[in-house]
Amino acid sequence: MTDRIPPSGLPLASHAPGKAILFGEHAVVFGKTAVVLALDMGTDLEISGLRGPGSSTYNGSERAARGNPYLQTSLRTHPPPQPLDLRCRSQLPRASGLGSSAAFTAGLMAALLGMEGGAERTTLALESFRAERQAQGVGSPVDTSAAVAGGVLSVGARAPGDKLWELPAEDGRPAWHVARLPDPGWTWVVGFTGVPKDTATVVRRVGERVKAPDGPRLLERIEEIALQGCDALRAGDRAAVGRLMNENQRQLVELGISHPRLDDLMRSVEKLAVGAKITGAGGGGSIIVLPGPGDELRVGQAISHAGGVPFVVKVASRGASVQPLTGGPQPPGAGNRRA
Ligand code: PMV
Repeated sequence: MTDRIPPSGLPLASHAPGKAILFGEHAVVFGKTAVVLALDMGTDLEISGLRGPGSSTYNGSERAARGNPYLQTSLRTHPPPQPLDLRCRSQLPRASGLGSSAAFTAGLMAALLGMEGGAERTTLALESFRAERQAQGVGSPVDTSAAVAGGVLSVGARAPGDKLWELPAEDGRPAWHVARLPDPGWTWVVGFTGVPKDTATVVRRVGERVKAPDGPRLLERIEEIALQGCDALRAGDRAAVGRLMNENQRQLVELGISHPRLDDLMRSVEKLAVGAKITGAGGGGSIIVLPGPGDELRVGQAISHAGGVPFVVKVASRGASVQPLTGGPQPPGAGNRRA
């Protein structure tokens, strides 16, 4: 993707999509290949300027702004010309494995870079990753890449597909490459357990788990599945993608990231799905299901009967975007708190 984030004054609106990881979560933290889908559910921000010296506000509250690490790291690395009033509306439940923090960070960073006069999308990818990583302390650029680029992506030291950009890793590890894969155009179903998960805690736990003698082999097997998944997606082979999802799920259980509520949701779709697996960090959060063609509502109902929250989704082809807000009604209180 070569398009730029355009220059933008205030007030402005931004949007960024959420994501579901189809293959390779956790292994990607170690540079192995993962495949991620940007979702047609995401986060919208409306941002206006506040007058006077003071602090930025989040949904009308200075305290909420101070307590949001993604907001704080983004503002610290790209300070805006004046304090901001940010209003956020998101379709992504927090801590659900659906990339709510990445969508927030990418949408905010797109706005901040727009205020600085615009930027290459590659810069947005790098700055969003840095801000999310700083706020979270661990992790790969999978979530922020999906929020910035949209579509279907492979991410890892080896990332098959049309190359988009490369992001540096720490500790002498190889850089992450990010590449675009074709979207087969299928409908997917996400099932949220309602149990929030803490990505950093689960990632650190997996870091310990893979120090066991079978750890390296587990990570390699996950990457083999992800690489085969890339081929299956390119071929539009639904049965193969589903089979590989099921296989990846077995490795995720081996990594110890399941949760009784995830197990309930997995059982609920067992007979209906072409493939199903945990998506994201695990320890709570969500599953992603590839239903048979036309079966998405039945899968959604099964998830709902098992106590989960179903979302019927498709891939969002567009990544983070910014546009000026002109003339239209402002959200209550925006821009005039100190007027
Ligand atoms: O659960 P999420 O949306 O935070 O996804 C985390 C994906 C991991 O591979 C577990 C961590 C990462 O940053 O890649």
